[in-house]
Amino acid sequence: MPDRRPFSSMALPMILLTACTSPAPESADEPPRPAADIHSVARPTEIAVSHLDLDLSVDFEKRVLTGRASLTLDRRAPADAVFLDTRDLEILSVTLDDGTEPNFELGEDRPFLGRGLRVEVTPETRVVHVDYRSSPDAAALLWLDPAQSAGGEHPFLFTQSQAVLARTWVPCQDTPGVRMTYEATVRVPPRLLAVMSAENPTERSADGVYRFSMPQAIPSYLLALAVGDLEFRAMSERTGVYAEPSMVDRAAWEFAETEQMMVAVEALYGPYRWGRYDILVLPPSFPFGGMENPRLTFATPTILAGDRSLVALIAHELAHSWSGNLVTNATWNDFWLNEGFTVYLERRIMESIHGHDYAEMLALLGRQDLDKTLDDLGDGHRDGHLLLDLEGRDPDDGMSDVAYEKGYFFLRAIEEAVGREPFDVFLRDWFDSNAFRSATTSEFLAYLGEHLIKGDEDLRQRLAIDRWIEGPGMPAGTPAVESAAFAAVDAQIAGFAAGETSAADLATDGWSTHEWLHFLRGLPEDMSRQQMAELDARFELSATGNSEKLHEWLHHVLANRYEPGYAALDGFLTSMGRRKFLKPLYQRMAGEDDLKPMALDIYRRARPSYHPVSVATIDEILGWDS
Ligand code: BES
Ligand code: ZN
Repeated sequence: MPDRRPFSSMALPMILLTACTSPAPESADEPPRPAADIHSVARPTEIAVSHLDLDLSVDFEKRVLTGRASLTLDRRAPADAVFLDTRDLEILSVTLDDGTEPNFELGEDRPFLGRGLRVEVTPETRVVHVDYRSSPDAAALLWLDPAQSAGGEHPFLFTQSQAVLARTWVPCQDTPGVRMTYEATVRVPPRLLAVMSAENPTERSADGVYRFSMPQAIPSYLLALAVGDLEFRAMSERTGVYAEPSMVDRAAWEFAETEQMMVAVEALYGPYRWGRYDILVLPPSFPFGGMENPRLTFATPTILAGDRSLVALIAHELAHSWSGNLVTNATWNDFWLNEGFTVYLERRIMESIHGHDYAEMLALLGRQDLDKTLDDLGDGHRDGHLLLDLEGRDPDDGMSDVAYEKGYFFLRAIEEAVGREPFDVFLRDWFDSNAFRSATTSEFLAYLGEHLIKGDEDLRQRLAIDRWIEGPGMPAGTPAVESAAFAAVDAQIAGFAAGETSAADLATDGWSTHEWLHFLRGLPEDMSRQQMAELDARFELSATGNSEKLHEWLHHVLANRYEPGYAALDGFLTSMGRRKFLKPLYQRMAGEDDLKPMALDIYRRARPSYHPVSVATIDEILGWDS
């Protein structure tokens, strides 16, 4: 077991170090006790940070953020120090609200967790000011040269705080079990626009100074900032997009369904509580598909397919405004409470707008992803449980499709067992009664017992809750997903695989992106050069502008050493940094002696424009020594 004592130089009583592991029972009017979080040194049962005031200057030359974080303390039990998380931060000074400079100490530097900051406070201390500087290598920050932006003229900066990276740009209690409101003043080079997970400007300021306010309390992993040559386009009264000028109109067209999605999800789960919902389209090096930063989803430009076929991702990030941002996983072990619920909501939104068959296609693609992940994990793997055990690990390493898709199927199993209407009421009540709070898996299960199972032992048996939560793989009785559209695709695949149907004769008219993905995934692993060439010629797969389709096709390109597709592979891997696409493609190449040199060559050129989150993953896959 790793050493969990971050302040080894101090003789701290063990009781304090372990005090958070079993929260004491609460009385009705006491604020909820945060659960223990093994990924944070914070001790919110003693002192929780309830408000953050940031004043930051953004220096593109030095690639650092410099400024002050003022943290308002909520005293919950007598304590003579507040504990904050930091990683790669240079602490310049610490001041209390009475103007004094308290003793403070940085703990040992621990891999991915960084250094705890212990600041001594008096019983009267309400605010602690920390003056600090981030490192040019801060893992949450990606600094792009002008050449790496779409416009090519201005630099770009964006953050990615989830899961435990907020501490690389803000000293904070970096745990999803603590929530704070925030305000920020951000100083950027004039001509650039700054936006945050907060109330945002839509116009550039003349002096490059922007002021932000986030009046709803959020956990640290939702702190977000982006700075660049951004423009805003309204899509409806309360939705809009920010993007570089060359992308903004395309983005506004692609995401035009957003208002409809909001109406759909509000009808199911109650009012949207965050004011506006805008989307920021980032440069292609954004390592994720989307990130649910409150009021301002961060999104990859790889979903701009030109036909609105990949916008389920927006439904997903929007859904987090209920599942995740409103009711938050208390620790990263409970990650499925964020993502499993969100996938469930996402599919309900897509079903409301595009119908049952459409949503079932999404569910089947999700099931395929899940089966592959479980297969890769191997039988009985602990990471196949919904409730994770991330002790001693970077939470990022243990997060997989299991939380998303097994979580989805668990909720769908409950829905099918109790009926849709009661389940909708139950979910809505869950969000309402836990709004702006964090919840553990056991709290959810207790709520489920009390509000839905209500002593029905037969129902409890049928749900096999333990098998879902603390068992590997998929329980018997997992809901079956059926899609007539995919069955028709299967028939085409069968003919093609048997050599009865040539590419020219495949009946693909009217296929949606989802049918294409199912087709590409279902093609045989080994295909002849002629089959590959015919598929490519007829469907222009190497040239497709749909990133999901291209990704699936490139696996065949590699599996079949289809050299005419290598330029497309090179182009794809050097033009975007979305880890979901990078990881499997590099993995496939790394595992083959003849392909590995190509992987290394591409990576050498691409690495500088990937985000540290993706770099960490691909470095490991390729054994890259930086
Ligand atoms: N919150 C996640 C992204 C995330 C998870 C970042 C864990 C860091 C750690 C976001 O909501 C998400 O799930 N994004 C998915 C898209 C979605 C449609 C499944 C992604 O980026 O691929
Ligand atoms: Zn998500």
